[in-house]
Amino acid sequence: MHGDIESIVLTEEQIRARVVELGDDISRDYGEGSVLLIAVLRGAALFVADLARAISTKVEIDFMAVSSYGSATKSSGVVRIIKDLDESIEGRHVLVVEDILDTGLTLKYLLKNLSSRSPASLEVCTLLSKEGKQRVPITCKYVGFAIPDEFVVGYGLDFAERYRNLPYIGVLKPDIYSEHV
Ligand code: IMP
Repeated sequence: MHGDIESIVLTEEQIRARVVELGDDISRDYGEGSVLLIAVLRGAALFVADLARAISTKVEIDFMAVSSYGSATKSSGVVRIIKDLDESIEGRHVLVVEDILDTGLTLKYLLKNLSSRSPASLEVCTLLSKEGKQRVPITCKYVGFAIPDEFVVGYGLDFAERYRNLPYIGVLKPDIYSEHV
């Protein structure tokens, strides 16, 4: 698996340190209240597990799964809910936890959908944001890292469902990537 990686974009140590900082920011902002983390499956599963443990505010966690029509590596903007939340978010402070903000089309759809359910507040925490790629404006209150526009894998992010378990974030060797695209 590690042999398929061309270069490391973010090391395990960099990710760990930034997750702690994000957790501190979130704990400071939500204070003594409570926050419902909504993680978007499957990519954000690893991130939310670490982030939740870095937050000192009372936390609940729920999951949503969406699928975007289109190829494995390109977002089409048409999103389908595969798994909805288990509980109501009405009147609750909601923080959507995403792995990566690319075009922003997935989040745009999700935020519109979630805001129609009357949460008390609705914010976004994304681990990664691809610079210059957003096709729709999305306000992310918490951003882990801005990264160049390259397809990355690891720490929850996949390529054809693989590499999610890499502890770091990296770029695949071109021959592995081009086999599927
Ligand atoms: P968006 O709708 O274009 O913002 O795409 C968001 C989703 O596309 C993410 O939640 C990921 O599942 C996937 N995605 C976008 N860029 C990458 C990448 O570089 N590696 C792995 N998945 C990605």
